[in-house]
Amino acid sequence: MDGKKQVVFSGVQPTGKITIGNYIGSIKNWVPMQEQYDCIFCVVDLHSITVSQIPAELRKNTFDLLSLYLACGLDPQKSILFVQSHVSAHTELAWVLNTIAYVGEMNRMTQFKDKSRKHADNINMGLMDYPVLMASDILLYQTDLVPVGVDQKQHVELARDLAQRFNSRFSPTFVVPDCLTPKVGAKIMSLQEPNAKMSKSDVNENAVVTMFDDKDAILRKFKRAVTDSDTEIRFDKENKPGVSNLLTIYSAFSGETIQKAEERFAGKGYGEFKIAVAESVIEAISPIQSEQKRLAADKAYLENILKEGSEKAERIANRTLQKVYKKVGFIPKLR
Ligand code: TRP
Repeated sequence: MDGKKQVVFSGVQPTGKITIGNYIGSIKNWVPMQEQYDCIFCVVDLHSITVSQIPAELRKNTFDLLSLYLACGLDPQKSILFVQSHVSAHTELAWVLNTIAYVGEMNRMTQFKDKSRKHADNINMGLMDYPVLMASDILLYQTDLVPVGVDQKQHVELARDLAQRFNSRFSPTFVVPDCLTPKVGAKIMSLQEPNAKMSKSDVNENAVVTMFDDKDAILRKFKRAVTDSDTEIRFDKENKPGVSNLLTIYSAFSGETIQKAEERFAGKGYGEFKIAVAESVIEAISPIQSEQKRLAADKAYLENILKEGSEKAERIANRTLQKVYKKVGFIPKLR
C-alpha cells in the first residue's frame, strides 16, 4: 500500500454457502480491482454471529470463504486478505461510533427490519448494531470506495453519515467513502421464485446454486428451475422472470451478451436451454471449485495468509483508532 491509489474495502459474511449470485455480484468484480486500487477484502465473521451460528460450521465456513477468495483470484501479494475478528480495532471503533449513531436511525435500517422479521426470536443488539460495525470496517482503512450490491447501499450511506458527523464534531479524521456499484448489475434471482433475489438463507435449496454445489446438484437445480407456460426464450423481466433470470445467468457465466444468447436459443426448448445454462455455470466454476478444495486442505498456507493479512490490516486500522481515541479525549496508553 503506497497510499497513492484509492482504497477499496469489502467483505462477505462466512454464513452459509456463498451463492453464484454473490460470486457474480461481488468477488468476481473484485478480482480486476486489485490492479487499480489498494484493496482490502475481509471475511466478516463478527457480522455473522448477529444470527445464531453453529460454532464448528462458522469455523469451517470461514476457511472455505477465504479459500474461495483465493481460488477466485484474490491475491494476498496484491491485496490485504484477513478475518475481521483478528483485528480488534473493528469492535473498538464500533464502540466509539455507537456513541454518535442514533437509535432512531438504526431502527429505520431496512435490513435490520427485514432480519428482525425473519429472526423474530433473536432480535439481539448486535443485529441492530450491525451497520455501525460495518461503518467501522470501512472507516478504519480510510476507504474511498466500497463495492457492494444495492442491498448494502443504505449501510454505506450510514458509514458516510457517521464519518461526516465525527469529522464535524471533532476534526477531519475519516475519509468519507462512496459506494462502488457494479456497472453491469447482473442481479441473479431465485430459481424457484424469480422475482426474489437468490439468497443464501433461502430454505428451499432448489432455489439457490452455491459455489460449493457439485455438477449433479447444479444440473438438477437448473432442470427444476421455474420458467413459464410459454415456450419462447426471450428476455422480458416483467412477463418472463424465470426465463430472463436464466438468460442473465447464462450471460454472466458464458460471457455472451443476452441478445446473443437469445439468438442462440431461438426455437430451442426450455429443457435444452436449462441444461445449457447449467453447463455454462459448471464450466465457469469447476476450476474455481477444484482450486478452492485444494487450498482448503492446506490449513498451514491459509493460516499464514491470515497472519500476514491481519498484521497489515492492524497497522492501518490501529493508526486510525489511535487518532479517534485521542480526539474523543482518551489519555494515551503508555508502553
Ligand atoms: N454487510 C455486508 C453484506 O452482508 C458485509 C460487510 C460487512 C461489508 N462489512 C462490510 C461489505 C464492509 C462492505 C464493507 O453483504
